Order: sequence, then structure tokens, then C-alpha cells
Amino acid sequence: MIEKNKNKFIEIFDDNIQRDGKEQLKEYLSKSDFFIAPASSKYHCAFEGGLCMHSIYTYNRLLSIIQNEYKEDWQQKYSAETIAICGLLHDLCKIEYYKADLRNKKINGEWVQEPYYKCEEVLPYGHGEKSVYIINGFLRLTREEALAINWHMGGFDYRVKGGSFSLSETFAKFPLALYLHTADLLATYVDEKRG
Ligand SMILES: [Fe+2]
Ligand SMILES: [Fe+2]
Repeated sequence: MIEKNKNKFIEIFDDNIQRDGKEQLKEYLSKSDFFIAPASSKYHCAFEGGLCMHSIYTYNRLLSIIQNEYKEDWQQKYSAETIAICGLLHDLCKIEYYKADLRNKKINGEWVQEPYYKCEEVLPYGHGEKSVYIINGFLRLTREEALAINWHMGGFDYRVKGGSFSLSETFAKFPLALYLHTADLLATYVDEKRG
């Protein structure tokens, strides 16, 4: 399963992304825990390989949203490369973030050890903004790609909760951000059946 999803991810990546720096980015992903990391500690895809799986689901959803929206003209609006970059790479902020550990839990009066993922932030740069920072270290994002990845959490973003209006300004001016947020939600709540 992990190997199959890794191959699928690399196939979509190679078929669609030709930008300078892509090989270095791919090497970074392969050396990191990206292909074995979970997508969350307990909510969705909280298992080995979950992050890669979630990224593929988000890419598929983003592609179908844009194709549905623009029909046969979709490639004049967004390139297949932009869709792959946003879908596949929006959650690179989760690399080296979830650490497998054991905790004690009382079940029927007995203490047992159960595995779980704990969060350990080594680069406290936020969420979407952290993904943009990591990706831009390898390949140059367009303004709309950077904004879409930056704001992919939509209204769940802490900056929005703190009163920022930049999200709605971004959604109004750069629809790709709205499509990526929607794709992320559909992947999480429909494809992965977040509990
Ligand atoms: Fe995310
Ligand atoms: Fe996501």
C-alpha cells in the first residue's frame, strides 16, 4: 500500500511537474518521512503512508473541481503542473512532524501500552505558509500557487481565527485557493471519511 501510493505520487509528480528544482524536491521527499508519515495524529489518514495518500486524494479532487468548473477550457485557466504542485505538495508542512510513540491507556481496569502519533514541531512556521516556505526552497511557485497553498486551510487557519481578512481577499482574487481548500475538505471528509 505505501509503495503503491508512493509510485502513484511519483507518477503524477513526474508526468506533470517540469519546473527547475523538481528533482531536488523529489530527492528531499524521498529522504524525508513524507511517504510513511500519517496525514494527522488521529483525525484523518492517521496511519503510515496517510500523508501521501491524502495528497493524492487532494490532487484528484482539485483536478476534477477545475475540470468541472471550466469544462474543455480548463487548461487555459490552470496548467496541469499548477494542479499537481498544489494538490500533491500543499501539506509538506507535515514532514517530520508526527512521531510514532507509545502511551499508557487503561482498558477494562488494566493499563496497556498503545501506539499513537505525537506532534513535534521543529520548524514553527505555521501550516500553509510553512508548506510554501519548504517548496520555495526547491522550486519557484507562481503567486497564485503560493497563495493557494498558503491559505489551503480556509477558515480553519489560525490567522483567520485571529481576525485576518486576507483569506477572503485571496478567495475573491485567486479562485485556485478556494478550489484547493475545497479539494482538501473533500479529500479529508469524503474520501478519507474523517471521524
Ligand atoms: Fe493542510
Ligand atoms: Fe491537506
